[in-house]
Amino acid sequence: MAYENIIFEVKDPGVGLLTINRPKALNALNPGTLDEINDVIDTVEREGNVRVLVITGAGEKAFVAGADITEFPKMNALEAYLFALKGQKLFFRLEQLPVPVIACVNGFCLGGGCELAMSCDFIFASEKAKFGQPEINLGIIPGFGGTQRLARLVGRAKAKELCMTGEMISAEEARAIGLVARVFPADQLLEETLKVATALAQKSQIALRSIKKVIDEGVGVDLRSGCELEANAFGLVFTSEDAREGVNAFLEKRKAQFKGGFTA
Ligand code: COA
Repeated sequence: MAYENIIFEVKDPGVGLLTINRPKALNALNPGTLDEINDVIDTVEREGNVRVLVITGAGEKAFVAGADITEFPKMNALEAYLFALKGQKLFFRLEQLPVPVIACVNGFCLGGGCELAMSCDFIFASEKAKFGQPEINLGIIPGFGGTQRLARLVGRAKAKELCMTGEMISAEEARAIGLVARVFPADQLLEETLKVATALAQKSQIALRSIKKVIDEGVGVDLRSGCELEANAFGLVFTSEDAREGVNAFLEKRKAQFKGGFTA
């Protein structure tokens, strides 16, 4: 598929970089952009050569400034409902990718942009980034999972405050409330994000996949059930060649070479 709205490249050692590329519209998500992100997810699942995915925005101003507002006047209620479902389905697919996904937020991260970032495993942000769910100012509400993921990430009261006021917060405030994992100077953000992505690409993919699955599935259940999920995954990961390699490398005082694969 030839892309019009995004750029997708795979760097060594298996770091996929997906750049939303509509800088004139502050990288707003139109239906075509959603389709192209969906195609990248297909590729990552099918090819198996991407070990970590990084998502960022083109230009210096925005990560993604929301769903494309120019699409809204032509939508009726049913089309709006289907548009919300389309975004939600896409972000569920992204969230469930078996590889780590890092949002590299270089500027405005609003509405659908914040919802996209929250569907990633964690968010790194430039100190110039701004976060918010400003849909209220258009007389509408978030539709790509924002009310739900934000409340789960930062708590119900803070999520209500952000969605009801529509006000933007700084990267530092977003870090303080647990929305953002790390904040970097703008000119170092991509480089630092790629450094972490490269480090993750060299870890055991089976262990990373298990951590992601157990944390995501565990937050929705009671503590005992979550710990049971963890114990099961711990046992399964123990059967991996990477587990043998990691433990042996430690004991032999050398760097582990993780290759994937199971022994049983
Ligand atoms: N959808 C479509 N186009 C958008 C957009 C969006 N979500 N956000 C920005 N743009 C467009 C603007 O219309 C403008 O286009 P133009 O140059 O053809 O007029 C261009 O991107 C630059 O934006 P502009 O508003 O001029 O930049 P700014 O620096 O003055 O303001 C924002 C930046 C992010 C504060 C402002 O663009 C904004 O409020 N955007 C909408 C955010 C939003 O409500 N998102 C949720 C949507 S559901």
